[in-house]
Amino acid sequence: MPNFFQNKTALISGASSGIGKALALQLAQSGCKMALLARTLERLEEVAQQVRSLGAEALVLPTDLTDPNAIRTAVQTTLSAWGEIDFVFSNAGQYHRSPIRDLKVELLRQSMEINFYSHVELVLACLPSMLERKSGHLVLVSTMDAKKGIPPDTPYVAAKCALAGFGDILRQELHGSGVQVTLVFPGRVDTPMVANLEVPWISAKISAAACAKAILKGVQRRKAEIILPPQTYLLYYLQVFAPRLADFAVRFFRLEGWERSERGAS
Ligand SMILES: NC(=O)c1ccc[n+]([C@@H]2O[C@H](COP(=O)([O-])OP(=O)(O)OC[C@H]3O[C@@H](n4cnc5c(N)ncnc54)[C@H](OP(=O)(O)O)[C@@H]3O)[C@@H](O)[C@H]2O)c1
Repeated sequence: MPNFFQNKTALISGASSGIGKALALQLAQSGCKMALLARTLERLEEVAQQVRSLGAEALVLPTDLTDPNAIRTAVQTTLSAWGEIDFVFSNAGQYHRSPIRDLKVELLRQSMEINFYSHVELVLACLPSMLERKSGHLVLVSTMDAKKGIPPDTPYVAAKCALAGFGDILRQELHGSGVQVTLVFPGRVDTPMVANLEVPWISAKISAAACAKAILKGVQRRKAEIILPPQTYLLYYLQVFAPRLADFAVRFFRLEGWERSERGAS
């Protein structure tokens, strides 16, 4: 991506690990300045060190994204430092699973806080300055599961579906404003989030670096949606044209995966 991100500014949430960290390192190679947000200071510092060793600037902003005031403070700090934010990678998330018959609504609320409301708060905090400049790009990381839900992931999927709906309307409302919106729907990605989850060959995990590369390529092309890796399109089209067949495929291929400890039993 020659020079597209050079001298631009990015804010990355969930930058201490996985996809967010991979985004930070690839953006650093392109000479992009960045604000790194997550809760864990030490891991953010490690990422910032790697970013700086690649010649890019990094602000470390330990932030609990379930706290709207903390989000607004982080955005203000970034704007005070650089005057503008060109790209927002709203990526922080947590994986919550529970069969619906055992579901505690509290877990659903917890998932909504980080997987939905935190993204909404971040967008609302960044939007005014972007609208004023008539420029900027909001990238919201949902999941492929928002295109086809996989049991027993209700708390996670419901929140990510809400995020997908929010982003879809956001993109349409911002049409003509100069502010771009891209929604990202990754399949399984090899990160700490799903480290304990074994998955079948058909939904093999891709690396966080490959995921970040696809996201940055899609952003450069101003894509409305990025679905990855390519084989996930099979399930996506099956769901659109024959949902019960898609249900069957989820069961047949055991797409829910299995915890490492369950392996012997599977
Ligand atoms: N891995 C997959 O298979 C997969 C598939 C589809 C979509 N995704 C999505 O991709 C995004 C990145 O996930 P990942 O796979 O890279 O997972 P990860 O390695 O576990 O990273 C999650 C990031 O979110 C941050 N985070 C979590 N809760 C937070 C909070 N309350 N406040 C601030 N930061 C918080 C974590 O940092 P701290 O713990 O330091 O706060 C971490 O930096 C998520 O939105 C996830 O849903 C992942």
